[in-house]
Amino acid sequence: MAARWRLLYSGCRYRRWLGVAVASRGVLPRFAVFAEIVWRQAKQVDEATSSPDGTPFEAHHFQREDEGDDALFYAQPRLVVHIDGGAIAGVGRVFQDYLPQGGELLDLLSSWRSHLPAGFRKKRLVGLGLNAVEMQANPQLDDYVVHDVNQDPRLPFPDGSFDGAMMTVSVQYLAHPVEIFQEVRRVLRPGGPFLVSFSNRMFPTKAVLVWRMLNDEERAVLVQAYFRLAGGWLDVQAEDRSAPPGDPLYLVWARKG
Ligand SMILES: C[S@@+](CC[C@H](N)C(=O)[O-])C[C@H]1O[C@@H](n2cnc3c(N)ncnc32)[C@H](O)[C@@H]1O
Repeated sequence: MAARWRLLYSGCRYRRWLGVAVASRGVLPRFAVFAEIVWRQAKQVDEATSSPDGTPFEAHHFQREDEGDDALFYAQPRLVVHIDGGAIAGVGRVFQDYLPQGGELLDLLSSWRSHLPAGFRKKRLVGLGLNAVEMQANPQLDDYVVHDVNQDPRLPFPDGSFDGAMMTVSVQYLAHPVEIFQEVRRVLRPGGPFLVSFSNRMFPTKAVLVWRMLNDEERAVLVQAYFRLAGGWLDVQAEDRSAPPGDPLYLVWARKG
């Protein structure tokens, strides 16, 4: 493990325990503690990633236990949800808050549900995933593309095609996250938001090693690092959207600069 990454990782752990200690004394509400932790960690990522020798990552961080063809793993349609009802409602609120209404939207690593809230107005929603049956069963998609982003991180859309993009409970499966975040930026129109939400569930054998090494708060920092390393994103932000006792829900997002 690179020295800088190890430093970031141990720093995250230290701050987490500090946050818990402060919260348990009732000094700050839980969200403020989370925001403080994320802010400090993001600062540390900034420092690490702005060093002259570049990325804090090593190739093995993006290996998966199952390096077999993703298309084979996802060949069998799974018409199931991957988070509970409370977290799904939370994703809907995130979209309500930050996606532009009436626009063209891209749902990355899409399946049979996109979680747009009832009454949300869109011009067009395009899904990109690996299973055609799942996306055909999605009542909110107007169109879909089967494309493996781990085989080819280039997105099959012209520059500036979309007003907003989302990747829901799937960022842990990206083997080339920085390239994909660059591609998402390319296919968005200026100011378009990219909303990356995640919980604590996963298909573990298909999640990248670095994801499995980290806890939820550290994962929020990792996704912020993807945005920062990709470049050209404005106002990278992390939010804890969890509503206990349901599944945890975190959002990291930014707008195309
Ligand atoms: C956990 S599901 C999430 C689906 C959906 N976003 C949701 O919120 O329920 C992950 C989806 O990502 C797609 N996927 C996984 N790996 C992929 C890859 N390498 N390229 C494109 N899509 C992929 C699969 O088709 C699968 O349906």
